[in-house]
Amino acid sequence: MEPPAGALLRGWRKRALLTQEQLAERAGLNVRTVRRLESGKPWQPRTRSILLLAEALELDGEEQATLVAVTRGLPVPAHRGDPEETGPSSVARTVPRQLPADAATLVGRRRELAILETVTAVSIDGMAGTGKTALAVRAAHRLAPRYPDGQLFVNLHGHARSMAPVEPGEALARLLRTLGVPGEHIPRHIDDRAALYRSVLADRKTLIVLDDAADEQQILPLLPAGSNCRLIVTSRRRLTCLDGVRSLSLETLLPVDAVALFTRMAGRERVTGTPVNVLTEVVRRCGSLPLAVRIAAARLRAHPIWSVRHLLDRLTDDPLAELEAGRHSVTAALDLSYERLSAEQRHAYRVLGSRTGTDFGVDAAAALLNTTARQARRLLDQLADAHLVREAAPGRYRLHDLVRRHASAVHVTSRFPPVRAASDTMTAGTSSPR
Ligand SMILES: Nc1ncnc2c1ncn2[C@@H]1O[C@H](COP(=O)(O)OP(=O)(O)OP(=O)(O)O)[C@@H](O)[C@H]1O
Ligand SMILES: [Mg+2]
Repeated sequence: MEPPAGALLRGWRKRALLTQEQLAERAGLNVRTVRRLESGKPWQPRTRSILLLAEALELDGEEQATLVAVTRGLPVPAHRGDPEETGPSSVARTVPRQLPADAATLVGRRRELAILETVTAVSIDGMAGTGKTALAVRAAHRLAPRYPDGQLFVNLHGHARSMAPVEPGEALARLLRTLGVPGEHIPRHIDDRAALYRSVLADRKTLIVLDDAADEQQILPLLPAGSNCRLIVTSRRRLTCLDGVRSLSLETLLPVDAVALFTRMAGRERVTGTPVNVLTEVVRRCGSLPLAVRIAAARLRAHPIWSVRHLLDRLTDDPLAELEAGRHSVTAALDLSYERLSAEQRHAYRVLGSRTGTDFGVDAAAALLNTTARQARRLLDQLADAHLVREAAPGRYRLHDLVRRHASAVHVTSRFPPVRAASDTMTAGTSSPR
C-alpha cells in the first residue's frame, strides 16, 4: 500500500528534524504549500517546488522519484532496500553497464590515460578519427571498478551522418530511464529533468561517458554535481566553457605508435621485411591519424597481393581516395565536421585548404580571405576550435595534411545539406524537450 503524499512528506520532515516553517524556509516555499501537501489535500505542485522540497529534506534520488510520483498520483517506484521489492519496478536497482566493448588494444596514449585517472570531469577534444572515443572507452573500463553504481554511455551524435545532435532534454530522459526512473515520472521541463538527474546521481558512484558532443549547450544540462560521479566527454570541438571540466586535446599519434598500430592491424606477417622508412612513410601519408592508419592497414589486408610499398605508392598518388574501406572513410569523417560549419567558416576552410602552404599567419589568411586581420583571426580560432586548423605556434596556423586535401577537394555539392541558420544551431540546448 503506497503511503499518501502527506504522510510521506511528514515522515521525511520529521526525519530531517524540521518544523513545517523551517522546511518551508529551507525550501524557499510558502509554509502554506508545505501544510497543504502534508494535509493530503488534492493539489498538483509544480515539479520545481517538489525538487526544492526534496533538496531541503535531503532526499536521495529514489525518495525524490517517489515524491514526484505520489504528488502526481503515479505508481511509486521501488526503493533500494525495500525488502518486498519485486516485479518490473526492480529496474530501479539495475546497475547500468553501458560501456561499449574495449576490443582493440590501445596503442600509446599513456600520458592521456594517466591524466584520465586523476581528473573527475574531463572533456577530450580532437580532430575526426584521432581516437577520442577509443581513449574514453579504454579509460572508462579501467575506472569502472571504482564506480560500482554503474557506468553510463551516451552517444550524443554531435557529428553523425543524417542525424541531428541528440537534444539534451532527450538525453536526460534516456539517462533517467537508465537510472531507474520510470518514464511516467520523468518531468516535462528540461531544468526539472536535469535537477532530478543530479539528485538521482548524488548518492550513486557512477561513471558517465558522453560521446561525440556537439557543443557546450548540449553538455551543460548533463553535468552531474558533486564528486561521487566521474565524467568523460568526447567532442570534435574544444569545450572550454564548462565549469569544473578539464579539457584534454588529443593530438594524432606519435610516428612510432602509428607504425605499431599499422603493424598490429595489417598483421605482422604482411609487414615483415618492409624497410622501416617505408612503414614510417605510410603512416606519415596517413598523418598519423589513427582512423587513417587503421583504414590503410585494412586496405592492405583486403589485398593479399599488395606489398606495403605498393600501398605507399597508392597513398602517395591520392591519399584520400585510398583511405576508404567499407563504411570507414577519412573523407566521410571530415565531411561531418565540414557540415557543422557556418557558410563563412566553410568558405574560409576551402580557401585556406587550397591556397596556403604548410603553415601561415593571420595576415596571409586575411589577404586570401579578402578580409581584415581581426576577422581572419576570428575565423581561424573558430576553425581551430573545430580542430580543422591547428595553431602550431602563436599566430602560426597549419592544416593537417589530410584536412588540407579534404578542404581543397571539398565543393559545395548536394552531399552537403545547406548551412543551418545560426538560430537553428543547437537551439535544442536551450529549448524544452519534446
Ligand atoms: N590509440 C589507439 N590505438 C589503437 N586504435 C586506435 C587508437 N586510437 C584510435 N584507434 C582506432 O582508430 C579509429 C578511430 O578512433 P575513434 O573512433 O576513437 O576516433 P574519434 O576521435 O572518436 O573519431 P570521431 O571524431 O569520428 O568520433 C577506431 O577504429 C579506433 O579503434
Ligand atoms: Mg568518437
